[in-house]
Amino acid sequence: MKALITAGGKGTRLRPITHTQNKHLIPVANKKILDYALEYVKEAGITEVGIITNKGDTEVQDVYGDGSDFGLNLTYIPQDSPRGLADCVRIAQPFIGDEPFVFYLGDNIIVGGIKRFVQQFQENGTSCHLVLSKVPDPERFGVPEIKNNRIVRVEEKPEKAKSDFAVTGIYLYDHNIFEAVNNIEMSDRGELEISDAHQYLIDKGLEVSYSEITGWWKDTGKPRDLIEANRLVLDNVERKIEGQVDDNSIIQGRVNIAKSAQIINSQIRGPVIIGEGVKVKDSYIGPYTSLDKDTHVKNSELEFSIIMEEVKIYNQTSRLENSILGKNAAVAKSLRKPAANKFIIGENSRVALL
Ligand code: TTP
Repeated sequence: MKALITAGGKGTRLRPITHTQNKHLIPVANKKILDYALEYVKEAGITEVGIITNKGDTEVQDVYGDGSDFGLNLTYIPQDSPRGLADCVRIAQPFIGDEPFVFYLGDNIIVGGIKRFVQQFQENGTSCHLVLSKVPDPERFGVPEIKNNRIVRVEEKPEKAKSDFAVTGIYLYDHNIFEAVNNIEMSDRGELEISDAHQYLIDKGLEVSYSEITGWWKDTGKPRDLIEANRLVLDNVERKIEGQVDDNSIIQGRVNIAKSAQIINSQIRGPVIIGEGVKVKDSYIGPYTSLDKDTHVKNSELEFSIIMEEVKIYNQTSRLENSILGKNAAVAKSLRKPAANKFIIGENSRVALL
């Protein structure tokens, strides 16, 4: 069994963060989104992993190299342009060969990993096994129609959904999928759609089985999804305080503070994760917040936010909430005259002032 993980695409919905960073390298609870995928695959007993990247983009390869840090053997498969998920499968055929494989969208995070789905696929012996999740808004996804425990139709973003399930970003296939992805047509939006490939298999009379996710699953495509994924992962964080906390500080609940972090005259209310080199002074850090490496927070309040490496937050008069701050960003109240709001903001940035 092999694995194929996507790490290409445009990431338009996560701009401006994705102007300078591949979306799969964004931290959720201080861990890169793609780390989760690699860990799930390893845990499922798979070591041969192909990663789809955008052609000419070496960012992912620079971080993960040959995969030995994860105990994996990684092969990078460049995609000319983001022509759709079925195109990702199509170009991976030389890497996959005849083996069954799991196709995993690298921007998905799922509690409990994927081992159980791999086992179910192997037990079923079907050509294709899809992982479904009940969602309130199935029209945003590929939607299956189910009869007698088998999927009989898959529609991509239908106007009226035939079930309240979404096809998530975890798919298991045997070699038949290659015939499908080589025979479907481009969709109106110019992509080879994976739902069309699934429909091709069904029309050919092949069995498409499924599992239902009972815990949470998150596709981290939009800013709100990222903050929500951060919340869900932090919900399982354990209390571990290794850094320095002075006597004037209060640490409540499940808070994880790395060794070289410093907390001075502050209150931290978990679940919170605080990375190496972080300094928090005269501040309040509220639930569902992650502060990545070398971030400094002074005289400010924040909660429910993803703060990446080397961010500076100083002298905020109102609490920061629901925020995502990219690497090396600064949010500071100017103490010098003339007192005015000053912004240096890149394309697609958003600021909501009180
Ligand atoms: P999407 O989230 O559907 O697309 P995207 O990443 O381009 O983002 P946006 O819609 O905001 O522009 O992609 C799902 C996953 O598949 C994600 O891991 C990116 C990856 N992908 C590819 O690697 N190649 C592709 O051709 C496409 C469409 C997606």
